[in-house]
Amino acid sequence: MAASGRSSILAPLDDGAEFELVLHTQEENVPAYTLPDPLALPSGQPVQDVETWRTVQRPRLLQLFAQEIYGATPALDLDISFEPLSYAEDALDGLAIRKEVRVWFRRAGYQCYMDILIYLPRQAKEEPAPLFVGLNFMGNHTIHADAGITLSTNWIPDRSPDPQNPDGRVVNNRATEKARGASASRWPVEMILRRGYGLATIYSGDLDPDFDDDFQNGVHPLGYKAGQTRPAAYEWGTVAAWAWGLQRAMDYFEQDTQIDAARVAVVGHSRLGKAALWAGAQDERFAAVISNDSGCMGAALTVRAFGETLAAINLNFPAWFCENCKRYIRQPEALPVDQHMLLALIAPRPIYVASAEQDKWADPRGEFLALKAAEPVYALFGKDGLGVDTMPGADQPVGSVMGYHMRTGGHDITAYDWAQYMDFCDSTVIG
Ligand code: GCU
Repeated sequence: MAASGRSSILAPLDDGAEFELVLHTQEENVPAYTLPDPLALPSGQPVQDVETWRTVQRPRLLQLFAQEIYGATPALDLDISFEPLSYAEDALDGLAIRKEVRVWFRRAGYQCYMDILIYLPRQAKEEPAPLFVGLNFMGNHTIHADAGITLSTNWIPDRSPDPQNPDGRVVNNRATEKARGASASRWPVEMILRRGYGLATIYSGDLDPDFDDDFQNGVHPLGYKAGQTRPAAYEWGTVAAWAWGLQRAMDYFEQDTQIDAARVAVVGHSRLGKAALWAGAQDERFAAVISNDSGCMGAALTVRAFGETLAAINLNFPAWFCENCKRYIRQPEALPVDQHMLLALIAPRPIYVASAEQDKWADPRGEFLALKAAEPVYALFGKDGLGVDTMPGADQPVGSVMGYHMRTGGHDITAYDWAQYMDFCDSTVIG
């Protein structure tokens, strides 16, 4: 990026035209904008009571996010079954119960599955445990070195830091034993268990591998009607498929007596934070929603166009959102919603948004401002806002039902982040 903090390139669009993709990471380059009011009805009248929010405005906004951004999940006529894969009561040196459940999704002519890896504190045998659930990037076996975790056999991206010199964790897009625990710094499993929480995770690629294959693999074909070969323009992209998987995990939790399904917080980092937000917005069974560095089309305001923009994300990751979303590449200001409204859809449930100071691409200020702009909907429910008007400095968590922090450092999810999430859930989900 140029010293002015602003750069532009010419990007080709699907229709053959060239588009000037402008990127900036300086506050002075943020365009003037007015945010749509989450409480304004199409008539211009404000929502004044919870009933109108719940029955009119919330469904309307959900539909707009589905239709214009993430894509609506088609009506699915599936046979879903839960197959126990493993169970151990003495995992992690006796600290945890570990189990794995394969969730099969079947319809005539097509089937696929997702594996849920679950760690629970041992006391879950007597009393169902509250739980964090989140997707992972590289396979369940990467979250901990525990040899009892089944090595994924599905397609996995090779993210070797040096492609010329691969690290051997993924060979021919399949996991190897070397990959065990590779993402452990992001999943402080023992710390979570010692605080009385369980942890469940699913490899995002079980639901939809993270490359653009025109939706031939993963869960998308489950939704095709006769003759359909890709989702319609308003139907689910990859992020929505990931969110759908989180909801199916919730279906499982509801019938596992060791899990307290009324106290499940959904959490996600980065692209998987976008999925956590979309799952949490749609599905009120999630008792709390946590977004870690989710950025563009996650917790950050789109109109600020700071760091990653709507155009950049749709051009770089064409499968993540629905086709309709691409109509806004040239005119993001025409979007009828912005991301503060997505956060507002989680009200009155606890929501936590976290940024990282150096993660300019995800626009930390835009994430804070989106949460601020969701406050009026929480206020409608009589819930407190963030308790501050200006953005707090690094490592200064704020808020109670709505929580925020900006961690020192870069784009990541760390033990510091998890510690804040547990403090937050202690007082909201548990307390
Ligand atoms: C890219 C992408 C982001 C995304 C991130 C991630 O940086 O531009 O939108 O959040 O990847 O998932 O790590």
